[in-house]
Amino acid sequence: MGSGIALTAAMNGIEVCQNDIAEEQLERARAYHAKTLARAVKKERLTESDAEVVASRIRYSTSLADCASAQWVVEAATENLRLKKEIFSSLASTCGDDVILASNTSSISITDIGASVGDAAPRVIGMHFFNPVPVMKLVEVIEGLVTSEETTSRTFALAEAMGKTPIKANDRAGFVSNRVLMPMINEAFYAWMDGVAEPESIDEIMKLGCAFPMGPLRLADFIGLDVCHHIMMVLYEELGDQKYFPCPKLRQLVLAGRHGDKTGRGVYDYSTS
Ligand code: CAA
Repeated sequence: MGSGIALTAAMNGIEVCQNDIAEEQLERARAYHAKTLARAVKKERLTESDAEVVASRIRYSTSLADCASAQWVVEAATENLRLKKEIFSSLASTCGDDVILASNTSSISITDIGASVGDAAPRVIGMHFFNPVPVMKLVEVIEGLVTSEETTSRTFALAEAMGKTPIKANDRAGFVSNRVLMPMINEAFYAWMDGVAEPESIDEIMKLGCAFPMGPLRLADFIGLDVCHHIMMVLYEELGDQKYFPCPKLRQLVLAGRHGDKTGRGVYDYSTS
């Protein structure tokens, strides 16, 4: 997600510093940026020199201190509240006091993240992008309890400057997108577990019958089964209703390390593709 957000910003004229703790992840980001820009050149959407300019807007860093000069930060780390709180607390002490601290979290409370930054909490906001970021039009914008109006209006302006459509959702588990999407994906796992149909049929039925670009099980692999499982647990814990409990079939694949595209295997096997 971070690589997609960085590229989308750079394609819209914004200078970016992409930060990660692992050099290996930054290498993957570089490769993804080069591949996506090369495709845009091949499709004649960008000239080669435009693509070079876009690429030159992105620098890569493994030091969080390099964010100190940023005017804006979009955090897209692993979905772990403790980790996000550490990152936000560090950003709040190093970044300027007019810098917006946005999180791309898919389900963690923005109010809770904001509680880790003291006086900077009015500048904390949710800026939830969708994968693949360069393609998907939406940014779900989530205000925490004390997010200021100025933070929200600047976030709307930034999302629009990145070519996206910002839409506000309240700070409740899963916001709107995952409150609706994840139970549907979870139900597809139940349909598979209960023998209603095999994964291929479940996905084709939803693609051809409901005009989904990807079936729900294919989409779950694309999102990451660990992420889907985590979001279901957030919904279950906050809303307290058994209907949000992750399907055992989903849980089993996660426990087996089959997390979808990123591990080469999830519902489907991608090891040879
Ligand atoms: N980065 C940049 N561009 C990409 C891309 C990527 N990772 N993947 C695909 N594209 C572009 C392709 O370059 C292509 O562009 P052009 O037609 O302009 O060349 C276009 O998208 C279509 O790609 P393909 O022809 O390869 O394949 P497709 O038509 O099957 O589309 C898809 C691929 C866009 C991923 C489509 O299947 C889709 O929309 N799937 C659903 C995605 C979705 O629901 N995302 C939201 C997930 S939920 C989430 O992200 C948030 C959360 O909290 C969990």
